[in-house]
Amino acid sequence: MSQRLLVTSALPYANGSIHLGHLVEYVQTDVYVRFRRQIGDDVTYVCAADSHGTPIEVNAAKAGVTPKAFVEKYRTEQHEDFKRFGVDFSTYYTTDSPENAKWAYRVYDALKAKGLIYKKSVEQLYCETDRRFLPDRFVKGRCPKCGTPDQYGDVCENCGTTYDPRDLKGPFCAICGNPPIVRTSDHAYVNLRKPEVSALIREWVEGEGHLEEGVRQQVRGWLADLQDWCITRDEPYFGFPVKDPEFPGKYLYVWVDAPIGYLSSAEHYFADEAPAGARLAPDAFERRYLAEGAPSRVEHFIGKDILRFHAVFWPAMLWATGLKRPDRMPVHGHLTVNGEKMSKSRGTFITGKTYLDSGLDPELLRYFYASNLSPGIYDIDLSLEEFRNRINADLQKRIANLAARVHSPVAKLGTLGAGTAGGTDRFDRKAVADALAAARLAYRDLEFRAAIRAVNDLADVANKAVQDNKPWETPEAPATQALLYDLGKALHAIAVMLAPVMPRFTAGLAEALGGVPLAWPDGFTPFDGKPVRFAAKPPAILPVDPKQVAQLIVGAPEAAEPAKVSKAPSPPGVIQYDDFAKVELRVAQVLSAEKVEKADKLLKLSVNAGDPEPRTIVAGIAQAYPDPQALVGRRIVVVANLAPRPLRGITSHGMLLAAGEPPNLTVVTVGDSIAPGTRVK
Ligand code: MSP
Ligand code: ZN
Repeated sequence: MSQRLLVTSALPYANGSIHLGHLVEYVQTDVYVRFRRQIGDDVTYVCAADSHGTPIEVNAAKAGVTPKAFVEKYRTEQHEDFKRFGVDFSTYYTTDSPENAKWAYRVYDALKAKGLIYKKSVEQLYCETDRRFLPDRFVKGRCPKCGTPDQYGDVCENCGTTYDPRDLKGPFCAICGNPPIVRTSDHAYVNLRKPEVSALIREWVEGEGHLEEGVRQQVRGWLADLQDWCITRDEPYFGFPVKDPEFPGKYLYVWVDAPIGYLSSAEHYFADEAPAGARLAPDAFERRYLAEGAPSRVEHFIGKDILRFHAVFWPAMLWATGLKRPDRMPVHGHLTVNGEKMSKSRGTFITGKTYLDSGLDPELLRYFYASNLSPGIYDIDLSLEEFRNRINADLQKRIANLAARVHSPVAKLGTLGAGTAGGTDRFDRKAVADALAAARLAYRDLEFRAAIRAVNDLADVANKAVQDNKPWETPEAPATQALLYDLGKALHAIAVMLAPVMPRFTAGLAEALGGVPLAWPDGFTPFDGKPVRFAAKPPAILPVDPKQVAQLIVGAPEAAEPAKVSKAPSPPGVIQYDDFAKVELRVAQVLSAEKVEKADKLLKLSVNAGDPEPRTIVAGIAQAYPDPQALVGRRIVVVANLAPRPLRGITSHGMLLAAGEPPNLTVVTVGDSIAPGTRVK
């Protein structure tokens, strides 16, 4: 039965270009949307530029343009970039719209009418030069805990301590550099701790299918210590002015009207942009998608960094306004590049434009992401080496080659008609049915990894049949033709299964197969008795070259000067720099260290190696460190890209460097001035 869905991705700030980190989310959502459409669902995929807030207001002023002009420039650029990566929004609107203002006031009024808004006076840092209150990211100073200079007002990047900006030592304004003063201001708070509200949030969080279990655990932690939410900001601000006379001169905080942008952008789409036959007036749209008990599904795709806004505040806002809460909220982890957080200084902050300029096909990135995506909060690493290997091994060697190998004998024969359609014991048709069934469930459950595996497994079965039977040797034999018929059909199934991820490549494949459909109705089987023929050569996938991927790293020496030196073969035992560079050594700070039960040589360490979460490392150093506490706080060196390995039931994510033999063994350490996560090279 076909379903109606409203699917969203988070709304990117209209404050910069789309980068490969963003694209994890938009590719994940787009693949899902394409899959649902392919199986016959009616999906509207809504996104918009998030146009409000302090950084946008400040950057527009710096650029000497109005915030409206500033955000419109980025909105247009972002939309173009998304299209190039095949991300096919129904609309890419803006939160600075009349529809969004209308909805934002409606939500505010609803909160007010329910008695959930109260006034509280708050002390904040204020810059008298710029005449503005300074949000956390606009004040810097020395960390109150470890003294590291130049830290933001909310968290120290060195020791990870979170604090109030007023606790910074030697604070200064990030805009003008002058020291701020402390000032008070009255703000509107939403009373989330009120029992009916917190119960409602909890009910949504625990609701079947809303959150993946690991995500739910994290949200439960916040609910255990629920805080009321400040929803106003002082001027100057770019946003919607609060109309409530109780809060003169205040603006709605950007995080209030941002998720409301999902609703208003969808409303705008149906009212103004949808094809004529699909237009809906705002009230009809509301009844179909938003009202309590509405017959459509609403799914919000987001990243882990914005979970709290979506899983705690958003259900409360919807509930207060009398609207239905979302049916599902898939949360993804972050992208790292070569094992590290994307970083401008390391050149790994790769924009969509840099990727496109390298000449790499955007569908290759979509494929790489899909082959790494699963539900739950897992970071995805774009290791350039693995990216290249994956594309070459799967898409080039398995899939494009299969198409080419089936194409040439079939093209010679012309059409394989009814006489060949009876099946052959040289090919297992069940493998096709199994792959289609597995991939279909996998896409639905956001287990894209498994869907991609099903495609590759089927390609392996087909390639083996080609290998074993060498159809080019006896193309005229009936047995060969029956096999080629089945292989042609398997190729059709592969195109169907890959279509959500690589729409252009698979459209080319379908075209080559004489215009076969890529729809995926229930009970779909390519073994429909229809003839197999090739109308054209199937699209090729060229192997990805190391130089091409090296160009992704902005300012990388490989990119700056194309290899002039031809490499001389190394004498035995001597390695090239590239071999050394494969080992990713990083500084890690030991957070905790304990003995492993019943293993007198092992210590289990938890370290901060610059990853978003601490990592566990098990090391055979217990005899040299009878008091493991002595290691806590030390900065050690770890091999960060070692494949994880279980040791006594604990998975070790990397190893540490040490010199000597126990008990005379010392862990290699570096000084306190080197931040965790720094690469050792
Ligand atoms: N404007 C807010 C979202 C408002 S939604 C009502 C915002 N914008 S953002 O541009 O910073 O991020 C947009 C989305 O991209 C978020 O879901 C975020 O998690 C995701 N990503 C941004 N950087 C990312 C990575 N490095 N890796 C994966 N996703 C990342 O937050
Ligand atoms: Zn200032």
